[in-house]
Order: sequence, then C-alpha cells, then structure tokens
Amino acid sequence: MRWKTSLTKIENEQEIIRGHNLQQLVQTKTFVEVIWLLLKGQLPNAAETRLANALFAAAIDHGVGAPSATVARMVASTGNSLHTAVAAGVQTLGERHGGAIEGAAEFFQENVNVTDVTGLVKSLKDKKNRIPGYGHKVLTHDHRADTLFTIAKETGGYGKHCTFAAAVGEALNKISSKPLPLNIDGAMGAIISDLGFDWCLAQGFFIIGRVPGLVAQVYEELTSGAGVRRLSEEEIEYIGQ
Ligand SMILES: CC(C)(COP(=O)(O)OP(=O)(O)OC[C@H]1O[C@@H](n2cnc3c(N)ncnc32)[C@H](O)[C@@H]1OP(=O)(O)O)[C@@H](O)C(=O)NCCC(=O)NCCS
Repeated sequence: MRWKTSLTKIENEQEIIRGHNLQQLVQTKTFVEVIWLLLKGQLPNAAETRLANALFAAAIDHGVGAPSATVARMVASTGNSLHTAVAAGVQTLGERHGGAIEGAAEFFQENVNVTDVTGLVKSLKDKKNRIPGYGHKVLTHDHRADTLFTIAKETGGYGKHCTFAAAVGEALNKISSKPLPLNIDGAMGAIISDLGFDWCLAQGFFIIGRVPGLVAQVYEELTSGAGVRRLSEEEIEYIGQ
C-alpha cells in the first residue's frame, strides 16, 4: 500500500512535520502554531497566532446544556470510557450546533463579491433558507463573535469576508421575526475565510477548539458519582397514538 502525504514523515527516528523537525517545534513553538503549520503548511506570524488562539479559545466550552456536552455526559453516565463519550459529543456537531461554521465559511467564500447584500438575504429568506452562522437558541447577542471580530481587527485578520458577514447580519436582522445575531460559528467562518482557509476545513477549527471542553465535561461526569442520567417521567409528555 502506497500513500502520498505532505504532512508528516518519520525519518532516522525523527518526526518531520511539514518540513519542520518536531523536536524543534516542541521546544520553540506553541500548540496553536503547530496546529496552524499542520493545517496550512507554513508557520503563522505573531498576529495570526494570536487570532488562531482566540478562535480555539472562544469555542472551548458552552456549558452542560450545549448538545455536544449533554450527549457526551449522558454517554459517560451510562458507563462508557472517556474516549467514547468525547467522540459521542463530537458526533453531535451538526449544522445547527458547531457545524454551522462550515456552511457559514462556504456561504461567505461563495458570495463575498456579491454587491447587493440586501437582495441576496431577502431572496434566501423568501426561499426559507437559513443562513448558517446567524441565530442562537438562547442568545440574542453572541459576545464571543464580537470579541473575535475585535481581535481580528487588532491583528489585521478582519478582511472582506468579515465585512461581508457583518453586512449580511445587518440585512438579515432588518427582516427577521427575532434577533438573529452573528454567532460564534459565523464569526469563526468569516475569520478563517479571511485567513485563507478552505471552507472544507472549517469544522475542524470548531472541533479542535471544543474537544478540551468535552474532555473536561466528561471527566467531571465520570468523577461526579451522579450515576445514569435519564429523563424523568415528568419531563416526558406522552401524546399517545
Ligand atoms: C441556531 C438556530 C437553530 C436557532 O433557532 P431558533 O432560535 O429556534 O429560531 P427559530 O427556528 O424559531 O426561527 C425563528 C425565525 O428566524 C428564522 N431564522 C432562524 N435562523 C435563521 C438564519 N440563520 N437565517 C435566516 N433565518 C433564520 C426562521 O426561519 C424563523 O423565521 P420565521 O419566523 O419567519 O418563520 C437557528 O437560528 C439556525 O438554524 N441558525 C443557523 C445555523 C447556525 O448558525 N447554528 C449555529 C448556532 S451556534
């Protein structure tokens, strides 16, 4: 079996990652810098490192109520291992939770040059198409998105995709029946687009950021002594046939 890769090779008992010796990376670079190297093929500059660090930190956890944490803890509570429970949490990351970053980045990259943003948003609304990266189940304003955009501006990472995402948000909120804030997925999708990453890679950014949160949630569950989690009968509304 032959396999072509540009990521990593092991040669003379040394690991080479994207052309860099892993021992040197370990001694001189941060985890975030090495993640960037692996994903992009070159090391980030200081501004890119700060922005990438912010992206991962912003996604790290959103409480037990976030579906990924609820499911991960539920799976842990029924006697599964840490890795099984964390993997179950990752599997919940669909287009309405965490995974919207991919659709958002794709939408921004495909439409960034559209000049009639109001018309675009209205036509999607008329077709009842939801724009990924906007809206939130419990938040009317997502401060994580604001903070990320602030850091993007401070680091030179706020480009045409972020500008476009803000314009879409403005147009959408003029015609929506409820506040639809640019959410963390939307902000991350816009920023990674401005950083030159392919939208196909977008969900990886959310997963990398969220896994530490899931590990912490699962560990807390495993050591809590709470036992098996299940809905009580009072929480279930039986509607018959
Ligand atoms: C996150 C989300 C599921 C929350 O939904 P919700 O608060 O329960 O909102 P509802 O499903 O009740 O929708 C309310 C109205 O807003 C509209 N709406 C909600 N999100 C929308 C979006 N992203 N784009 C366009 N319209 C949207 C709905 O079509 C509905 O319109 P209507 O009143 O004219 O029928 C929803 O906003 C969504 O699907 N967003 C896109 C996916 C996303 O970004 N997910 C990441 C969340 S962190």
